[in-house]
Amino acid sequence: MLKRFTISIEEDLLDDFDTFMQQHHYKNRSEAIRDLIRARSVQNEWAADKDVMGVITLVYDHHRHQVQDKITELQHDYHHEIVSTTHVHMDHNNCLEVIIIRGKAAEVQKLADNLIALRGVRSGKLAMSSTGEHLH
Ligand code: NI
Repeated sequence: MLKRFTISIEEDLLDDFDTFMQQHHYKNRSEAIRDLIRARSVQNEWAADKDVMGVITLVYDHHRHQVQDKITELQHDYHHEIVSTTHVHMDHNNCLEVIIIRGKAAEVQKLADNLIALRGVRSGKLAMSSTGEHLH
């Protein structure tokens, strides 16, 4: 059920918020506020080591430093947490791997850190998301 409420806010802060809205292509303030609250809820889930979902994105040159073997080995260590892995051969050298993972926040973070720190991984990123269970 939708509730309406009125908030008081400094003019400068409201200007910042409207700029944020425009930059992120929100059509109205309500949806922008809802998403900011949800984003904070996701942060809280991660901080409280709740069950979370995340997406790890890696770009690497598969010729270098047995990086392919190490990436596979690490994923097998976390096979209970890994939901799916997609591998894209981007060109002769470069691979893109996208790993969807679900588990305790600290474990998910640890796997992401270990993968991203591997020699040969050129770019790595963890997108923190939620199981949705506590998000409204
Ligand atoms: Ni490949």
